[in-house]
Amino acid sequence: MTFSAQNSGVNSERRLLVTGGAGFIGANFVHYWCAQYPHDRVLVLDALTYAGNRQTLASLDAHPQFRFVQGDICDRPLIDALLQEEAIDTMVHFAAESHVDRSILGPGAFVQTNVVGTFTLLEAFRQHWLSRDRSADLRFHHVSTDEVYGSLEPADPAFSETTPYAPNSPYSASKAGSDHLVRAYHHTYGMPTTITNCSNNYGPYHFPEKLIPLMCINILMGKPLPVYGDGQNVRDWLYVQDHCSAIDAVLKSGKVGETYNVGGNNEVKNLDLVHLLCELMNELAPDLPVRPAQELITFVKDRPGHDRRYAINSTKLQTELGWTPSVTVEEGLRQTVSWFLSNEAWWKPLLSAEYQAYYQKVYA
Ligand code: NAD
Ligand code: DAU
Repeated sequence: MTFSAQNSGVNSERRLLVTGGAGFIGANFVHYWCAQYPHDRVLVLDALTYAGNRQTLASLDAHPQFRFVQGDICDRPLIDALLQEEAIDTMVHFAAESHVDRSILGPGAFVQTNVVGTFTLLEAFRQHWLSRDRSADLRFHHVSTDEVYGSLEPADPAFSETTPYAPNSPYSASKAGSDHLVRAYHHTYGMPTTITNCSNNYGPYHFPEKLIPLMCINILMGKPLPVYGDGQNVRDWLYVQDHCSAIDAVLKSGKVGETYNVGGNNEVKNLDLVHLLCELMNELAPDLPVRPAQELITFVKDRPGHDRRYAINSTKLQTELGWTPSVTVEEGLRQTVSWFLSNEAWWKPLLSAEYQAYYQKVYA
């Protein structure tokens, strides 16, 4: 995948610390940033958990401003050292445990990384900011999710920045906790923070456990397509590159202390989405083991506490910062299906014994 270099000239030569940059959205963001702003320093800190993949960033190893460090966001001495030695001015914090089904199986890691890890980064960044005389040029940007707002009824208006928090899963509760800490660090200490709460992303480098990659890979392997419950749950899908450009807009002109919702205005029922993916695969894949792929659709036990509907109102980001999504869901899904078709070498090694054991636990 390539992003075109269109450096706007604004905010050039920033020094970024990107946590979780070897994961799905973080890696797309790092590729985006290195292409848009080739003179900026981009330091990635990632623990390389099961969801982190060093290969995704391998093509950037020759980039003179790119550096990768394997490490945990809970490791305070490491964070302190990196902030200082790299003279970081901008933290972009993606690192998290991110999968709802895994949070149901084992919530502990979610509290540790999402809450304690974010707290550790905030404390380290606060010291760093104080040592820079509270410079207004520093920024701590926290990447969060629409799931903190809970679940919508069919006729409810979309989530806005003032919707009360009502997280329903251990994952979303841990993200809500991290959001509250970030908010408090601005309110109490005046730290220059911003937050984005984004809807469901999709695109290249998406780990196989999530709905869209899971369905693409299972279609290619002729395996059942497990739809939870009645398949009528709704998600609001955004192509990952549009999430990257939204964070760019917030870093460039967002107001400190503010939250911005990010979404594609693309509400789709899960079952309709799975049918769309089947149609695209029927069209684009030359030799599917089962054709038409729709024959593989299987209804399975529902996810406990499954949120019924998410929808995001991103008017604030669009009107105040001029951001708009650039990829329609039709284009984005077509590109994503094509990407999974052409990149078996990326996803096949991820179907490891650990992944199979996880799969058994959720779907057996
Ligand atoms: P992901 O699971 O694909 O990647 C997470 C990355 O964080 C991995 O590279 C992993 O190795 C790393 N990581 C995990 N624990 C760590 C630790 N303790 N220290 C350092 N690194 C660690 O996640 P994603 O889907 O790319 O999501 C990234 C962020 O965006 C998350 O904060 C998530 O809550 C948020 N978000 C995701 C979506 C979505 O649709 N995927 C939507 C909105 C917001
Ligand atoms: O809304 C943003 C969130 O989107 C992010 O914060 C999370 O990190 C990200 O994982 C995602 O959460 P979801 O739970 O919405 O995504 P997931 O891909 O796991 O599931 C999407 C929908 O599809 C959801 O309603 C559950 C359903 N589903 C999922 C899987 C994996 C199925 O029906 N079958 C499946 O096998």
